[in-house]
Amino acid sequence: MTILNLNTIKTIFKKRPTNSHKGNHGHALIIAGCKSKMGAAIITSKSALRAGAGLVTVNIPKKERLAVFSALPEAMIEFREENNNWDKYNAFAIGPGLGTDKQAERKVAFVVQNIKHPIVFDADALNVLAMKQDWLTKLPQKSILTPHEKEFDRLFGIHFSAEKRQQKAIEKATELNCIIVLKSHKTFITNGKQSFQNTTGNSGLAKGGSGDALTGIITAFLAQDYEPINAAILGVYFHGLAADITLETQSEESMLITDVIDNLGKAFQ
Ligand code: APR
Ligand code: MG
Repeated sequence: MTILNLNTIKTIFKKRPTNSHKGNHGHALIIAGCKSKMGAAIITSKSALRAGAGLVTVNIPKKERLAVFSALPEAMIEFREENNNWDKYNAFAIGPGLGTDKQAERKVAFVVQNIKHPIVFDADALNVLAMKQDWLTKLPQKSILTPHEKEFDRLFGIHFSAEKRQQKAIEKATELNCIIVLKSHKTFITNGKQSFQNTTGNSGLAKGGSGDALTGIITAFLAQDYEPINAAILGVYFHGLAADITLETQSEESMLITDVIDNLGKAFQ
């Protein structure tokens, strides 16, 4: 297992070319949010924008559009109820605040069956997959699953120690040809062949919304054409580093995930 530090990150992270335009940095689609959880859609999309995606579109229920229009003018919107053309997107995330009703389930089924790019599956999308185990075997290659420990156990059975969970993550990443980001205070990332343990982050992240931000950041790196394993590594490292930088102005108690997102810039610097 490789311990992630700045040296590893420096070998992966690519500087943005000076002559680039938005078309060079990808277009991410974030399928997130429902009536009572629109914050999740906003946090995920805002993080994707702050992590460098050229364009971000968020797929939300039409009734909830005002929330995104006012909170995030940089994002584009499409409506959950409509059939949209997804050919223009090169990176996908599904799950934060999505809910687990029939409509959410249909969206998860649709992306599993129709998308060829790797997809980030988080939160409620993982809860849907846990109930539909046969879909797990049909994920687009090198998709990224980002469960916390409870979501991991719902997907792959109850485990009684971090070591056992990590072992199972390695087995499942190999079997499903995916990347598993097993989130905790020491997040573990594996593609089955190589495994990494993160060193950044603090308990200020132990708050609702932190996981949504991580999903947005990883998706932005996918949009920018990083290999999925590298997108996961960079996402986890910078998410934690931005939280550590936030301790300069906030405490672990007072930190909000929006503060962390605002410090992504310092983390990249
Ligand atoms: N130290 C370092 N990192 C931490 C710590 C800590 N003490 N605590 C949490 N984190 C990081 C994790 O590594 C992960 O990246 O914060 C993120 C938390 O992600 P989630 O557990 O997915 O939390 P989130 O989705 O924001 O909120 C909890 O999950 O169980 C569902 O529905 C439930 O809405 C709830 C949501
Ligand atoms: Mg979560």
